[in-house]
Amino acid sequence: MQSLLLDFLKVTETAAIATIPWVGSGNKVAADGAATNAMRRQLNQMMMRGTVVIGEGEIDEAPMLYIGEKLGTGNGPEVDIAVDPIEGTTPTVNGQSNAITVIAAAAKGSLLHAPDMYMQKLAVGPQAKGKIDIEAPLEDNLKAVARANGKEVSELNVLIQDRARHEPFIKEIRSFGAKVHLFNDGDVIYAAGTCMENLNIDMFLGIGGAPEGVLGAVAVRCLGGEMQAKLLPRNDEELRRCKEMGITDPEGPLRHHQLVDSDDCIFVATGITNNMFLNGIKTEGGNNITHSILVNGKEQQLRYVESRYTIFQAV
Ligand code: FBP
Repeated sequence: MQSLLLDFLKVTETAAIATIPWVGSGNKVAADGAATNAMRRQLNQMMMRGTVVIGEGEIDEAPMLYIGEKLGTGNGPEVDIAVDPIEGTTPTVNGQSNAITVIAAAAKGSLLHAPDMYMQKLAVGPQAKGKIDIEAPLEDNLKAVARANGKEVSELNVLIQDRARHEPFIKEIRSFGAKVHLFNDGDVIYAAGTCMENLNIDMFLGIGGAPEGVLGAVAVRCLGGEMQAKLLPRNDEELRRCKEMGITDPEGPLRHHQLVDSDDCIFVATGITNNMFLNGIKTEGGNNITHSILVNGKEQQLRYVESRYTIFQAV
């Protein structure tokens, strides 16, 4: 797995570059198609036997990278792959911040196979690891995280996606005096942000996509923090899809190891537009310049990578 790190970096860089014509274009389908095609092309050149476990839909929804799709040359390690060619399609095509291309990969069998539905998520950085419980009242989690981070509850910074469904969380957190910071889109980066010491984020919580939940969980594991979650199936069809994917208790808590069950995992993201800790793509002179983070669970080491692609270079 670790030997594939740089290859995965090239995948997200290439996908990000492919989105350039579509940033600000208003065309979500074209943007997503460009990123997906670029990702698939690169992934199929890698020496691995990869299977998409978190993708963009079922087999009949191709050309998306679909769940169950086999990727790679067919030689090399067996790898579970979670992809989001564009995490933040809306900000990409509106030219707003927080869009990335992202991949997580882990040893075969170690990523949750999550259907595309809503998931409740709770993430914290390394200091508060082992102190949270998604089943506990929010007040208990806030107090536990404050204790672990050496703060008063009123000093906590909590990140939440700006959605009407989060109003009850927002009200409750503010009722304890803690600070709520709202963001519009792209929750993977905010889950990961809890583990970046310089950002001073104590907690990320909210309800978002389950695929993004698994991607975020890999990032948080690689960075030494903790994430827990809970799927929120809304009808019989969603319950059936959970069962089909082998989730025996679809409404039960998902502890971190149930989201990602191995340190043999990696997380790679390249900025399309700027976010809290990554710049988006810049074009300077004859170069496209990409900015990425690269982390792997074994070393728990965070790398920031800037790459320059000459524009006429085929990627
Ligand atoms: P997309 O790029 O697939 O649109 O996802 C962006 C995102 O903000 C995710 O980060 C988040 O998990 C999800 O959408 C939230 O869903 P919704 O927009 O329905 O509230």
